Amino acid sequence: MTTGGVSPLQDAQAPIGVFDSGLGGLSVLRAIRERLPAEDLLYVADAAHVPYGGLDPDSIRARARVLTGFLVERGAKAIVVACNTATAVAVSELRHHWGLPIIGMEPAIKPAVARTRSGTVGVLATEGTLVSARFAGLLEQYAGSVRVVTQPCPGLVAAVEAGAIDTPGTRAMLAEYLEPLLSAGADTVILGCTHYPFLTPLIRDYTGPEVVVIDTGDAVARQVQRRLERAELRKSSRVPGREWFWSSGDREAGAATLQRLWGHAPEMQALDETPPGEQASW
Ligand code: DGL
Repeated sequence: MTTGGVSPLQDAQAPIGVFDSGLGGLSVLRAIRERLPAEDLLYVADAAHVPYGGLDPDSIRARARVLTGFLVERGAKAIVVACNTATAVAVSELRHHWGLPIIGMEPAIKPAVARTRSGTVGVLATEGTLVSARFAGLLEQYAGSVRVVTQPCPGLVAAVEAGAIDTPGTRAMLAEYLEPLLSAGADTVILGCTHYPFLTPLIRDYTGPEVVVIDTGDAVARQVQRRLERAELRKSSRVPGREWFWSSGDREAGAATLQRLWGHAPEMQALDETPPGEQASW
């Protein structure tokens, strides 16, 4: 394993770096904050490039390298790719080139297959995740005899980014995307994109209480905890950890959504990207 030219700071006091295409990864950050209250957390929203679901894999990999490099330079001891789409196409490459724990996430096929009683599971995710080889591998490994019905959801990420959580337009999109899953007999719906957990109440309104809705935020937070403990990098302190936020996009618009999704309005800094000539490359 190589380290991409930047040495990770192997120190339990160092922060955890988290990134997503936008603010959807806050659903993962929230789970990490609950599970690991002492940790300092750095969060980057790549809002200038959201949605990743519409980008080609090479462009997503390039963004993942820039964001990981940014977080490593700020001393991150571990990286959480709080984005299913970026994990699907970029996590192997990131792990290969940076020698620090890199935790990704993927649609929760395995737990959904274990829970379904109807034998049909639905997956809401971005097109980028659903067409990835990594997702095909997940199905091959875990689906078995369970039928997995997939549904891309164009427009949902943009709605969450805009803070349009409970609007008629968002409800209409959810109805359009959930209807085929319920018609196919799905009794379990996987939220395969980190933006979607912010829509869980609306999703439940549509599906009714019998359908199980699976969000992977806490499973990722548990994995972060395990990886830090294994590497002896977990911070133990009674002092609550802090959070820092950066965005590559419109920070004024982002701040309003941040306040809505995170519950208060911390400062959001402009993402200061390494000049192109100095970007980590391999
Ligand atoms: N939140 C992301 C995910 O988990 C990406 C959404 C997007 O930018 O398309 O897939």
